[in-house]
Amino acid sequence: MSTGGGVIRSRVVGCGAYLPERVMTNAELADLVNTDDAWITARTGIRQRHIAAEGECTSDLATAAAKNALAAAGLEAGDIDLIVLATATPDFTFPATATMVQANLGIRRGAAFDIQAVCSGFIYAIATADNFLKAGQHKRALVIGAETFSRILDWEDRTTCVLFGDGAGAVVLEAGEGTGGNGDRGILTSHLHADGRYRDLLYVDGGPSRTKTVGHLRMTGREVFRHAVVNLAEAVNEALAATGLAPTDLDWIVPHQANLRIIEGTAKKLGVDPARVVVTVDHHGNTSAASVPLALAEAMADGRIQPGHLVLLEAMGGGFTWGSCLVRI
Ligand code: UT7
Repeated sequence: MSTGGGVIRSRVVGCGAYLPERVMTNAELADLVNTDDAWITARTGIRQRHIAAEGECTSDLATAAAKNALAAAGLEAGDIDLIVLATATPDFTFPATATMVQANLGIRRGAAFDIQAVCSGFIYAIATADNFLKAGQHKRALVIGAETFSRILDWEDRTTCVLFGDGAGAVVLEAGEGTGGNGDRGILTSHLHADGRYRDLLYVDGGPSRTKTVGHLRMTGREVFRHAVVNLAEAVNEALAATGLAPTDLDWIVPHQANLRIIEGTAKKLGVDPARVVVTVDHHGNTSAASVPLALAEAMADGRIQPGHLVLLEAMGGGFTWGSCLVRI
């Protein structure tokens, strides 16, 4: 990975976000279930989350984020020839939400498909798009993470309904020439993992084939927490080992936003300065596949993440699935 020679690199040329207008505070949740702001803040770091309006669907959130990413890139929808959309809350069982976004944007060419890796979905999606671009099969990809988890929550279960929110984030990836070295702009390395033995710790208890229903999210939070810190630190170290870089070389970590304690625990395990970790969980909650691109979009828009910065994306979710992606912006 650090030897010379022309290679194709997938460059992040634009990033965008969309959050539904409605904000739900911890105090509002305390009116629904037996919880309080003090518990939610202390145990998760979450203070508020956005909730999609009636009739506002994952494809709507995804389309808005995609438009913002295209605007940031200075590109037209017609420049895109691949859409990879990560979601666990699609509009319909089929067709893929990605094809609905494609139609909304007026794109008539290329491929569009969904990826299902729950909270790791965006890492899976960006790694997939990167491989299509590196193979020369497509030139410009929209990679989107979009969710309406509010639709699959059991609003009577205080152990889960306080954790999640709705939203969407998107990046535009463009194939460009690189040297193959770590100084290249674009995705330098990505690493994906799954271990299906842990399905029962985080799952939805419905689906077309098993129950013919949509179902609700179920989670054994404490166990997921334990695995998350270990798996995420391993995925980050894997990306660093593959490139011969050290934690101190990273300008930013953009982690999956599930719980502030997981984010801080992972940073500590890695020996990374918490000031270099992007945190949005306090105002977004856990938006599953949308959380990493939402955090990336926020830190790029406010100027924290600058062109040339080395940024590590990481996430872990149901399955279990987890992974990391190292990108020079
Ligand atoms: O995005 C995919 C990956 N997901 C995650 O990474 C989530 C990982 N897990 C977590 O973030 C944490 O485990 C939670 C935030 C879900 C829970 O925090 P915890 O510190 O692990 O709490 P706990 O589950 O051990 O529960 C502690 C206590 C329990 O009461 P008892 O049994 O000690 O009497 C719960 O019933 O807190 C109680 N509790 C609550 N109390 C007030 C659980 N939920 C609530 C609540 N409000 N909303």
